[in-house]
Amino acid sequence: MAERPYIVGNWKMNGTRAMLSEARAIDRASQRLMKVEVALAPPFTLIHATHKEVEQIGVGAQDCHAGEEGAHTGDISAGMVLDAGAKFVILGHSERRQDHGESNDIVRQKVEAALAVGLRIILCCGESAATRDAGTAEDFVTAQLRASLPQSVASHFEASPETLTVAYEPIWAIGTGRTPTVADVSAMHRAIRATLVDLYGAEHGANVRILYGGSVKPDNATELLSADEVGGALVGGASLSAENFLGIVMAAV
Ligand code: G3P
Repeated sequence: MAERPYIVGNWKMNGTRAMLSEARAIDRASQRLMKVEVALAPPFTLIHATHKEVEQIGVGAQDCHAGEEGAHTGDISAGMVLDAGAKFVILGHSERRQDHGESNDIVRQKVEAALAVGLRIILCCGESAATRDAGTAEDFVTAQLRASLPQSVASHFEASPETLTVAYEPIWAIGTGRTPTVADVSAMHRAIRATLVDLYGAEHGANVRILYGGSVKPDNATELLSADEVGGALVGGASLSAENFLGIVMAAV
């Protein structure tokens, strides 16, 4: 697994230009941290401004359209987010799967589009409370991963070993203050690791960082990051405050 933990802030549908002060504070603090990779995914409207404001941290998008260009009013292509300064894109987030009816097939097409322009991918997966309660969470998540990932990812690892990052985000932990036990996070991340090795082989499959996301806060980050096969965190609400987000970043040092 890539040695540097990866802490990513997903601002979701939050933020105007006033939020750039938080990005600057996170960037300044991160310049002293060589052992952790830090990134932010602001709304589309702030990608370019954030990219111009920061020096150390990565900037990414929260989604992109599967098409290259054309009659898709209001949509943003992978090439456009790259042009705005994004280096990665979050795809398959449960909120998009729910709010926009994004199937595994649509997510896979978006992964292809992002790879085609050289964006790094953070691919989200995660189960509902009902699936967790039914005891079928690992089967669901590993099947979701297989269906959302094109085999073509494999051809990008040689040139860019960090092409793919996976984020496990149990839907019932997002925004709720609830988190799985460390044992449950470890079990799921081990299952995801086994799937990645099966898909992409021992060398590349073992090096994909698997982030945990879902109510990560400064006071639980150390414990969650200690779980097996956890290579970082995808942070929502806590990333909107530089102080809280840096508290999570420092837990990864
Ligand atoms: O993408 C990260 C997000 O879904 C987690 O949100 O607010 O539970 O940290 P939150």
